[in-house]
Amino acid sequence: MHNITTKILLGDSREVLKEIDDNLIDLIVTSPPYADRRKNTYGGISTEKYVEWFLPVSEQLLRVLKPTGTFILNIKEKAENGERSTYVLELILALRKQGWLWTEEFIWHKKNSYPGKWPNRFRDSWERVLQFNKARDFNMYQEAVMVPVGDWANGRLKNLSETDKIRDNSKSGSGFGKNISNWLKRSMVYPNNVLQFATVCNNKNHSATFPEELPEWFIKLFTQPNDWVLDPFLGSGTTSEVSQRMGRNSIGIDIIPEYVEMVKEKVAQKESSIFSHNKIAV
Ligand SMILES: C[S@@+](CC[C@H](N)C(=O)[O-])C[C@H]1O[C@@H](n2cnc3c(N)ncnc32)[C@H](O)[C@@H]1O
Repeated sequence: MHNITTKILLGDSREVLKEIDDNLIDLIVTSPPYADRRKNTYGGISTEKYVEWFLPVSEQLLRVLKPTGTFILNIKEKAENGERSTYVLELILALRKQGWLWTEEFIWHKKNSYPGKWPNRFRDSWERVLQFNKARDFNMYQEAVMVPVGDWANGRLKNLSETDKIRDNSKSGSGFGKNISNWLKRSMVYPNNVLQFATVCNNKNHSATFPEELPEWFIKLFTQPNDWVLDPFLGSGTTSEVSQRMGRNSIGIDIIPEYVEMVKEKVAQKESSIFSHNKIAV
């Protein structure tokens, strides 16, 4: 077992993040309060004010992330008065101006969402998982998230014709081209950017948890054991629990004392020397 640190901190991320050293973190994975949601528990930030509210947080995130690190942001705009809100799109543009590269967008397909009926749209069954980076050459361990070749592919990929194996190499520089056999490694293939995770029932004393598979997948893809993971909107502590289980150091922050106490109970606290000023009581 790795000797790792799991810090759970209480407070407003805009302030608490200031205590973390520059360039410490390998992966930030988080789901912040969405605009106009859950006014009675936390947040309730309006769509108009959302970007203004978020930018001081992302400014700190940019500072604490290593140049090779990645920021994963799970968020989704809702529809109101017959229109989708544009605040997430505005946030993406603002983050780019702040210095982030918007490198990828994953779709989290909530494969167990209930059916429903609305007058002018269908059940919303997916959320955005946005990827931002500080630099183009970030760490990425693609082999760690390879998936078994499914039945759907048995006929097509397992029995490759000779032509499939010798077709010309890519001119785009990917190094693969149409030689499909390059994607097959011992019956494993690289996944795509649509992630199929079931939503979590409200069984963690928190109303907006993401499934463990979500942080787990990104922790595998973007970190190695002993790397540092940060969740500035920790909620029920999913990111901390998964990081700890996977042998990664982590820092989780939440503004609600009850959540922080609940997570602290679940996660063994270990000492760390990462804070230069030691201002935070853990
Ligand atoms: C969508 S929930 C996160 C859920 C989490 N991913 C999980 O699996 O439980 C957002 C969390 O952000 C916290 N929060 C809201 N504003 C905050 C702030 N300014 N600083 C730190 N945490 C905040 C809320 O208390 C809430 O627990």
